Amino acid sequence: MEIFPMLLVFSSIIFSLLSTYTTSIQDIITINPRVSIKDGGSTLVSAGGSYELGFFSPGNSKSRYVGIWYNNISPQKVVWVCNKETPLTDHSGALNLTSQGVLVLFNGKNSIIWSSSNETSSNISNPVAQLLESGNFVVKDGSEEDSKVLWQSFDYPSDTLLPGMKIGWDLKTGLNRFLSSWKEPEDPAPGQFSFSLDRSGYPQLVLRNGSIARYRLGSWNGLGFTGTPQLRSQNQLFKLDFVSNENEVYYKYELLSTSVESRLVLNRSGDLQRFMWSGTTNINRVIYSAPADQCDAYNVCGAFSRCSVDSPRLCACLQGFGPNSSTSTRCLRRTPLSCNDYQDGFKKFTRVKLPDTSSSWFDLTMTLEDCKKTCLKNCTCTAYANLDVREGGSGCLLWFDELNDIHEFDTGGQDLFVKMATSELGDIKTNKRSSMKKRVAIIVSFGLLVMGVLILGLVFYIRKKKLTVYMKNIHGNTEGGNEDIELLKFDLGTISKATDNFSDNYKLGEGGFGPVYKGTLKEGEDIAVKRLSKCSGQGIKEFMNEVMLIAKLQHRNLVKLLGCCVEGDEKMLIYEYMPNRSLDYFIFGDTRSRLLGWDQRINIIGGIARGLLYLHQDSRLRIIHRDLKTGNVLLDKDMNPKISDFGTARAFVGDQTAENTKTVVGTYGYMSPEYVVDGLFSIKSDVYSFGVMVLEIVSGKKNRGFIHPDHQLNLIGHVWTLWTEGRSLEVMDKKLDGSYALTEVSRCIHIALLCVQQQPEDRPNMASVVLMLGGEGSLPVPKQPGFFTERNPFEAENSSSSQLESYSVNDMSITELEAR
Ligand SMILES: *[C@@H]1O[C@H](CO)[C@@H](O)[C@H](O)[C@H]1NC(C)=O
Ligand SMILES: *[C@@H]1O[C@H](CO)[C@@H](O)[C@H](O)[C@H]1NC(C)=O
Ligand SMILES: *[C@@H]1O[C@H](CO)[C@@H](O)[C@H](O)[C@H]1NC(C)=O
Ligand SMILES: *[C@@H]1O[C@H](CO)[C@@H](O)[C@H](O)[C@H]1NC(C)=O
Ligand SMILES: *[C@@H]1O[C@H](CO)[C@@H](O)[C@H](O)[C@H]1NC(C)=O
Ligand SMILES: *[C@@H]1O[C@H](CO)[C@@H](O)[C@H](O)[C@H]1NC(C)=O
Ligand SMILES: *[C@@H]1O[C@H](CO)[C@@H](O)[C@H](O)[C@H]1NC(C)=O
Repeated sequence: MEIFPMLLVFSSIIFSLLSTYTTSIQDIITINPRVSIKDGGSTLVSAGGSYELGFFSPGNSKSRYVGIWYNNISPQKVVWVCNKETPLTDHSGALNLTSQGVLVLFNGKNSIIWSSSNETSSNISNPVAQLLESGNFVVKDGSEEDSKVLWQSFDYPSDTLLPGMKIGWDLKTGLNRFLSSWKEPEDPAPGQFSFSLDRSGYPQLVLRNGSIARYRLGSWNGLGFTGTPQLRSQNQLFKLDFVSNENEVYYKYELLSTSVESRLVLNRSGDLQRFMWSGTTNINRVIYSAPADQCDAYNVCGAFSRCSVDSPRLCACLQGFGPNSSTSTRCLRRTPLSCNDYQDGFKKFTRVKLPDTSSSWFDLTMTLEDCKKTCLKNCTCTAYANLDVREGGSGCLLWFDELNDIHEFDTGGQDLFVKMATSELGDIKTNKRSSMKKRVAIIVSFGLLVMGVLILGLVFYIRKKKLTVYMKNIHGNTEGGNEDIELLKFDLGTISKATDNFSDNYKLGEGGFGPVYKGTLKEGEDIAVKRLSKCSGQGIKEFMNEVMLIAKLQHRNLVKLLGCCVEGDEKMLIYEYMPNRSLDYFIFGDTRSRLLGWDQRINIIGGIARGLLYLHQDSRLRIIHRDLKTGNVLLDKDMNPKISDFGTARAFVGDQTAENTKTVVGTYGYMSPEYVVDGLFSIKSDVYSFGVMVLEIVSGKKNRGFIHPDHQLNLIGHVWTLWTEGRSLEVMDKKLDGSYALTEVSRCIHIALLCVQQQPEDRPNMASVVLMLGGEGSLPVPKQPGFFTERNPFEAENSSSSQLESYSVNDMSITELEAR
């Protein structure tokens, strides 16, 4: 037996050289009834040298276990343990294979510590146990070519899921494969956490603490698990597989690249950790862990509510449901179901993790329409959804009674249709060209509004010798105005329903003129509703201004106005909803800014530039925005920027490119010197604001409120100083490690400095900026910027103004402020 270790080493070497001539050598690294593994003696190594099997002690423990770990990786990372609950107390153990093909672990007194089976009736001529390159330890009949596997370690997982391992059920034998956490760092016995496939309803993966669900990956929808939209995006690395047939139901994953390795571990704290690495270093690199956020905690919001980490309120009752009482957070149906086809309907919720399927019913072939009918017919059915979302969707999943653990995502997730009384569904009066009556009504009410605005404007400005440009503009609009305005008029009931009666749960923030809400229309479309505060009398003109301006603007980098709502003294603007909120939310957030790589930032800068170019030059109206800031740049689901908030924008006519105003609107930190000081605004004041934004995007810092230990300068001043010393790259956001082209970054900084120059005439126009951003040509040398030693004249600001935290607190727009 002395010769055994030597042979092992030897054979591993030969293996790598002669991997095709292995049959005779392979026997040496298998266990058979004549060759066993003794503690302190030999170990078993897989053919390619990836895994090793032998005796080990976890940590400082004295107990001995048989296990499998990564070969040649230190410290040892055990992926499977054989005698989890029955450790050996000394080094006298031996792992034998009986002639019946049963693995037996003996202690020094030849008592059985563990065995792979207690059947002895099987009849095998040449049993062998072998560690495969996948990490699977198998027993089979060595005399048969493709012998069936008699036993395998992959069927008895510990806390680690290796590629190719299954979680789930063999329905023929009743075998249930699941992960269990270790009890203690030095005790591999099954701890309190388990990760298994629950098939009480439609199969779903559930992580449990004891018998209590802790986290659901959710059910399989053809692309991934409904609860982990992020897993799908890692598709270049993994192939996820979910199999459900009469023989078995399981999940497994395979790696698509041979140069990376991965494992999924259920750790002792009850978290799933996905490790991924390449080579033999960094094997503890976690690329994903779950539960990942508050909403992952099982059913944290209770039945009939949705959890969303992206909303101001974590929990909110589903539309149509409300808290039982003011003191309770339990959501109950507001209008009971009638159990009658005609009086019940369905509300569609989009981008959700489907509810707990443990008491669901499913059919793989039914269409969504049949699914709906089936649910409508059965009184206790509460919701339905597609089983498989691929190719337009197929299959039917039905829920009965409570809907638990609904998680609402920004992206990913799927559609869920919840049954409710028709009266809860709300309805939208849309103005599709079909209805002439509505069209007339809209034109009439528009006419009235325009008149109202004219009168108001007159009242406001009657004593000024010049009417403001925006009024000329509304005149201009009415001339050629009946073409192309596809504005929907929403009625108050619809909007009220979509926002749950302007519930705080749906409030996104507070703009200059009033609160902004998120809403969901009956069809499932998400909208943003800007509600003009009733008390802000001044808001009316901005409101109409915005309606008239933006209704005519169509550009992929401008936020799209869907319609408006004017009823009584309510005035509202309805926009497309931007799931990723505003740019400031990303670039100034410590963790979120890490999500914005350089490529995305340069894409955002380019998008803003193109949107602004369109406003300044390419649209039929020529528009100065006047309040450009990162808070007014919204991001769509693909992180494309969209300029928003046109309440303070001014249209100008003909060749006029500048205007003087007594009313300075804008946001400090973004306003150009000539505008703040002299009230002079022009396209070049927008260019200045653009320059400030670019510096903020590159640096991840706010211009206003920038603090540096060495000087009193703001961000512009800081960058200018670095620039003059040839060190401008030092301003780069530290969170942008590695992934950027330095020339591109330095070009951006250079362009930004050109935009923030003191003199408006020195600043480039947006057409030049767009060219400079895209081009290779040389750039002029910037002159000294304006406002670089800020602490501006209006520093004594209303810092007490409290705003929702999620929105930029100090970047409040000033809407009316007399400049001198
Ligand atoms: C285990 O196998 C070895 C041969 O490899 C044999 O010498 C030993 O007696 C076996 N132990 C038991 C308890 O059967
Ligand atoms: C051994 O037999 C007992 C009783 O028949 C059974 O409960 C147990 O699961 C068996 N163990 C194995 C490893 O098959
Ligand atoms: C065992 O093997 C022998 C010879 O290969 C065969 O005749 C016998 O039927 C087998 N017994 C069982 C239980 O499989
Ligand atoms: C698991 O459950 C126990 C007992 O219910 C509880 O004390 C513990 O906090 C839970 N742990 C986690 C991680 O959920
Ligand atoms: C388990 O995983 C979580 C998430 O990655 C981590 O924070 C925690 O420290 C881990 N616990 C242990 C015991 O490794
Ligand atoms: C609603 O709340 C009241 C008291 O607040 C309670 O008596 C009642 O049982 C609750 N209803 C449900 C369905 O939970
Ligand atoms: C409704 O569905 C439930 C669950 O499948 C079933 O038990 C019940 O019989 C059905 N009721 C009707 C009226 O079909």
